Amino acid sequence: MQIQNNQLYIGGLPASEIAKRFQTPLYVYDVGQIRKTIREMKEAFQAENVAYEISYASKAFSVVAMYDVLAAEKIHCDVVSGGELATVMKAGFPLQKVAFNGNNKSFDELSTAIDHHIGTVIVDNFHEIELLEEILSAKNQMQDVLMRISPGISAHTHEFISTGQQDSKFGFDLISGQAKQAFDLIMASPHLHLRGLHAHIGSQIFETNGYSKLADLLVKTASDWHFQPDIIDLGGGFGIKYNEKDDPIPNSDFIHLICQSVKQAAKAYNIQLPEIWIEPGRSIVGPAGYSLYTIGGRKDIPGIRSYLSVDGGMGDNIRPALYQAEYEALLADQADLPSEQVVRIAGKYCESGDVLVWQQKLPKTKPGDLLAILATGAYGYSMASNYNRNPRPAVVFAENGQAKLVVKRESMADITHLDLDYEVGND
Ligand code: LLP
Repeated sequence: MQIQNNQLYIGGLPASEIAKRFQTPLYVYDVGQIRKTIREMKEAFQAENVAYEISYASKAFSVVAMYDVLAAEKIHCDVVSGGELATVMKAGFPLQKVAFNGNNKSFDELSTAIDHHIGTVIVDNFHEIELLEEILSAKNQMQDVLMRISPGISAHTHEFISTGQQDSKFGFDLISGQAKQAFDLIMASPHLHLRGLHAHIGSQIFETNGYSKLADLLVKTASDWHFQPDIIDLGGGFGIKYNEKDDPIPNSDFIHLICQSVKQAAKAYNIQLPEIWIEPGRSIVGPAGYSLYTIGGRKDIPGIRSYLSVDGGMGDNIRPALYQAEYEALLADQADLPSEQVVRIAGKYCESGDVLVWQQKLPKTKPGDLLAILATGAYGYSMASNYNRNPRPAVVFAENGQAKLVVKRESMADITHLDLDYEVGND
């Protein structure tokens, strides 16, 4: 984030200029920051002298322009739906660099992926092994796969985004022996080529312990099964700073620790060092994204609090309502002015839980002021909805002093274009 002369700058441009040109509510990404983060991650791996891949988790933010950036930075990505796959394909992103994850991939989704020679399928369950067999034998094709393990490791994060515990819908359960059964099936398959093991313990993680345990567990599991993996994929989850209370571990420290843990485990369990893959989503795009809103009305409830309403809300950022997520906001044109009030920033949706920032110190405000909420680049646009039939905002990429529209704002025609009239029956 850059503040100059009281102005918030994004990608070398004043946020107010971007808002004037593209209107609000608006998502703006600092592309330089995304690229810098990816490069820092690469450097951290290179310093460890290991073979690696960074596979961006599309679910954090999946639009064609994002894949153009990933392609320029030469990293991989993972998708979890036919829609994310279609977006990757529309971008012309090389499918060989894509992994398909998810706990209920359909026959059609898998067929499309296989038809287009997707690099990796991350096999999640027994039903999927059968689907893959059926599709691949009909096409007489081989498919590289990783096996998703449910490792029984809990990360300390919100329950809804913790995925590694034994009681989880994802992956093959290790503790009951189902994972070994699945391993035997995959190894016996003439169409599946098992390249390694995968697990993901959760998201917005602030401690390293879970990753070292996971690295040890996956490598030990491979060794117990007398399997030399080409790849160990430790998932995503690196936490980011949303507000002044958050004190995340730098990405490079996570990577250093992961590499050290895999190296140690490989030595201890006597296997050759595999390629190390990670799947970060939030840490790549979260800090680089800003949501811009125009302030509208306010309500002061004497002795209780003041509500400041903006022209967006839970339709473009559901995270505060869903996870009690805490963001930080500032006035884009008065970024350096001292605070004079504490307000709750509310959206325009018809629900009391439609809050964007629970408690925010701000300078004096008036209707029409431009508010920027920071670090909204991950799971904002990607979880956006048309609740209350509000159109979804546009997305702008800013880089080197240039701003470019990469997703158009939905129009009122877009809102109704799937609706069909219904001829009411006689009563
Ligand atoms: N890999 C797998 C298998 C995952 O399930 C996820 C996230 C990731 C990678 C990327 O995790 P990240 O690096 O972004 O933490 N909607 C929630 C987050 C859900 C995350 C689900 N899986 C939120 O807004 O916090």
